[in-house]
Amino acid sequence: MHLQQNVSLKAYNTFGIDVSAEYFLELGDAALLEEIANDAVLSKQVRALGGGSNILLSKAVKGLVVHNALKGVHLEKEDSEHVWLRVEAGEIWHELVMYAISNGWAGIENLALIPGTVGAAPIQNIGAYGVEAKETIESVNAWHWNEKIFVSYANVECKFGYRDSIFKTSLKDKVFISSVIFKLNKKPVFHTSYGPILQELEKMKVTELSIKAIAEAVIAIRSSKLPDPKKIGNAGSFFKNPAISEAHFEMLQTNYPDIPCYPFSETMVKVPAGWLIEKCGWKGYRKDDMGVHEKQALVLVNYGHAKGDEIWALSGEIMESVKERFGISLEREVQVW
Ligand code: EPU
Repeated sequence: MHLQQNVSLKAYNTFGIDVSAEYFLELGDAALLEEIANDAVLSKQVRALGGGSNILLSKAVKGLVVHNALKGVHLEKEDSEHVWLRVEAGEIWHELVMYAISNGWAGIENLALIPGTVGAAPIQNIGAYGVEAKETIESVNAWHWNEKIFVSYANVECKFGYRDSIFKTSLKDKVFISSVIFKLNKKPVFHTSYGPILQELEKMKVTELSIKAIAEAVIAIRSSKLPDPKKIGNAGSFFKNPAISEAHFEMLQTNYPDIPCYPFSETMVKVPAGWLIEKCGWKGYRKDDMGVHEKQALVLVNYGHAKGDEIWALSGEIMESVKERFGISLEREVQVW
């Protein structure tokens, strides 16, 4: 096992925060998980790191950080309508999307260009443009640190919700996701109803709908709104879109007739946090090296040397102002270490 000590995590998180990990391991072989579990020092505190695109590193990380570098895509089985793919957790999500499209396998095209790894997709049930990862995840394979065995979690056991799963709650830090089984469609069902997709397809002069065209539209929209982490440090949406009661929403509508919403449940609606944050005047805000993205207020950014605890404090200020103005408590989407 090639164990390293005091390794800077700057290159391993898309926020570009420079803190170190006490121990660091690049995991290319799942068999090493058992070795770690049997090591008295290393097994005390282990954290899994994928693409580092949904974390805020607020301080130096104690214990072991395992960077998931498990690679491989295997066609497990197929029938006339579906394929089942086993994808190792360290594969890059967007590369999987492109691979599926090149084979004509549908289901994840709306999730093009989401940063991060395949192993992270089930943790927060990544979603965009009307589609969530849970719709194509058949099961998740993970190493259980206490049981010291690999366990397969069927879709229903993963308890998927909006940006949520059992891997964020009762199994948090208890398992290490090693691979994910996806069930993709040979016959596509197109999802084009979300906001700007149809407009973008028209702009692209697409006459015949295809999964490739949808992915291209999604890529164009995302690239126009969301900062490229290679240029400006960020972790995508920093907050979840909050769900509020219909009654609360109607009350807000009297003062803010243009407030957008999406249906959520029979009694609740979801309101875009980006809209709320923008209305509080934060969009484009900058203090030293940190700020709120000028094109999407849901995204906090690091222009260079911002510290994780400073970004954390800024997110708290934003939450307070949204609470004060709209009576809505925002929840952070990023995982804070
Ligand atoms: N809006 C504003 N101001 C802003 C940002 C948004 O007024 O600064 C308004 C927009 O005009 C629009 C509405 O809010 O009416 C929704 O905006 P958008 O379509 O950009 O989506 P979002 O709700 O802000 C969510 C996801 C994104 C995902 C998009 C598209 C969450 C937390 N975020 O954002 O996911 O790409 O929908 O499906 O649910 C991520 O999770 O990291 C992420 C980027």
